[in-house]
Amino acid sequence: MSDAELLKREAGIAACKYVKNGMIIGLGTGSTVKHTIIEIGRMMDEEGLEITGVPTSESTRVLAESLNIPLIEISQVESLDLTIDGADEFDMDFSLIKGGGGALTREKIVANLSKSMIVVADYSKRVDILGSFKLPIEADPLQSDSVIEEINGFCPGEVKIRASGQKGTLENEPFITDNGGYIIDCEFGPSITNPADLEKTISKIKGVIEVGLFIGICDAVVLSSSSGVEILVNPNGRLN
Ligand code: A5P
Repeated sequence: MSDAELLKREAGIAACKYVKNGMIIGLGTGSTVKHTIIEIGRMMDEEGLEITGVPTSESTRVLAESLNIPLIEISQVESLDLTIDGADEFDMDFSLIKGGGGALTREKIVANLSKSMIVVADYSKRVDILGSFKLPIEADPLQSDSVIEEINGFCPGEVKIRASGQKGTLENEPFITDNGGYIIDCEFGPSITNPADLEKTISKIKGVIEVGLFIGICDAVVLSSSSGVEILVNPNGRLN
């Protein structure tokens, strides 16, 4: 395992201390939370832990099913005890950019239904100002051109439909989300000083399904670095 992967694993596993018997847990998407899900599977198998998971993507569903984690659909729950998920960036206010894996819409629905949300991340995700990572926006394919045009009016950098990049697809063939949407990646640069305002502005654009800014949702970050794992608790969050 590479050093980067080891850090992801450390953060992913450390977050499991928040997992308790009987919980309904939102299972995030990505290469860091994958380790949380694998550890939950191990705890169920070896320690008798019982939880029910709500997957935030089809890839997470496949992983959880392979570990025999019982799952229910988003539509079947009114509330979850906890969501654990990764992030592409987080700032000092615990605002996040998410959607690098294209699962932002379900991730946000599940996180918003949860009594608390914990992010698992390595130190590379910590930033002073959000935006170095291109902001992902999910859009209706039929309206993606007009969404791009509007965002181009205020985004300083490139605004582009994400390509699939999958083997067997044509070059530049769009990536399609689990919901049948496109992802538009927006190059703001580290300029997102007011993420709440930007989220509101973009959400109002016709054809936008969801914005990859998560504001006021994250309660703690389980953060790994070469000096170990630390837990940053949001002073304004629900775990405080
Ligand atoms: C998935 O859509 C994303 O929001 C991921 O949670 C995020 O990209 C973090 O993924 P990694 O843990 O793979 O960096």
